[in-house]
Amino acid sequence: MAATLISTVPVFALAEDAVYKPAVPGRPVPGASPFDEFSTAEQVTAGMDLTGKTALVTGCNSGLGYETMRVLAMRGAHVIGAARTMEKAATACAEVDGQTTPLVVELTDFEGIVAAANRVAEIDAPIDMLILNAGIMAVPELRQSNGIELQFAVNHLGHFLLANRLQDQVVASQQGRVVVVSSAAHKWGPEEGIQFDNLSGAEDYDPFRAYGQSKVANGLFSREFARRLADTNATSNSLHPGVIKTNLSRFLPPEDESDDEPRRFRYKSIPEGTATTCYVATSPDLAAVTGYYFSDCNPAVPNEHMQNDAMAARLWEVSADLTADYLS
Ligand SMILES: NC(=O)c1ccc[n+]([C@@H]2O[C@H](COP(=O)([O-])OP(=O)(O)OC[C@H]3O[C@@H](n4cnc5c(N)ncnc54)[C@H](OP(=O)(O)O)[C@@H]3O)[C@@H](O)[C@H]2O)c1
Repeated sequence: MAATLISTVPVFALAEDAVYKPAVPGRPVPGASPFDEFSTAEQVTAGMDLTGKTALVTGCNSGLGYETMRVLAMRGAHVIGAARTMEKAATACAEVDGQTTPLVVELTDFEGIVAAANRVAEIDAPIDMLILNAGIMAVPELRQSNGIELQFAVNHLGHFLLANRLQDQVVASQQGRVVVVSSAAHKWGPEEGIQFDNLSGAEDYDPFRAYGQSKVANGLFSREFARRLADTNATSNSLHPGVIKTNLSRFLPPEDESDDEPRRFRYKSIPEGTATTCYVATSPDLAAVTGYYFSDCNPAVPNEHMQNDAMAARLWEVSADLTADYLS
């Protein structure tokens, strides 16, 4: 089932007539960029000097997070590289050129997230780029953390808490950016968008639907954060990176290489798969753009659920309740 679903992911290009409902009316509408699905993270940041800027990247030890950290550090940013253990974070940080600081962020550990945010506060620098990248996909059997289905807990709830704890440092930046790595797989989510009455997954669990739901949550969180940050210089946008072979597929059976069924999408390389993240995090063209969704380094239109302001507001309230003991 997994392989079938992966190979039937819809092509992610936008329908010509797809219309996006702005999250924050009055803000600039992002135009087409000079980049596309073949652009790499190095290309979209070419010529940039990020010296003096601070970025925090979750999931820095693997796949897209590692390349994001590598390229931002290469351009001069100080990158706080977050991974689940100090060993993983320190190893990844040591491997890349530039200024990096390892940080432990295990996204199921709310107390640990608070401790991590306190450590970041001690660094006492504005956060110019908060890149919420870590994630897991298609956990085969129902697993829970704090009573919540694991993919929702890791991909959304842990990041929700981390971002809230770091909000003041993002707002303190001249132009702080929250960049949420969602996915076109938000379209795999439940018919109703978010199953608020089944966040435990106990009622009914499907690995891909749960992943899709967590990615809808990423987009809705980013949208609602954009609205809440509207009176500041900070922005919040989400994105789909493309389809890239990384450890994200750890729970999937190995791809059947003998399958000659034509694939409906092209795998991106990791440098290509990191381009949209780095574009959204750094492009001067996006300084005031907030509440949008990007794909292939360009604005894109997610499904209706991810543009549902009422659902975004409800998700925020529910997430705040679920993390209430740790939020402030
Ligand atoms: N690859 C794709 O085709 C694709 C497509 C669309 C969206 N995305 C999104 O891109 C993001 C990055 O994924 P990737 O492809 O780079 O996958 P990856 O190589 O598996 O990296 C995922 C990262 O998340 C970390 N992580 C997992 N569980 C965590 C937890 N409980 N707490 C903290 N960190 C945790 C992993 O740490 P460990 O290594 O320690 O487990 C790893 O560093 C994800 O949000 C994913 O949903 C990827």
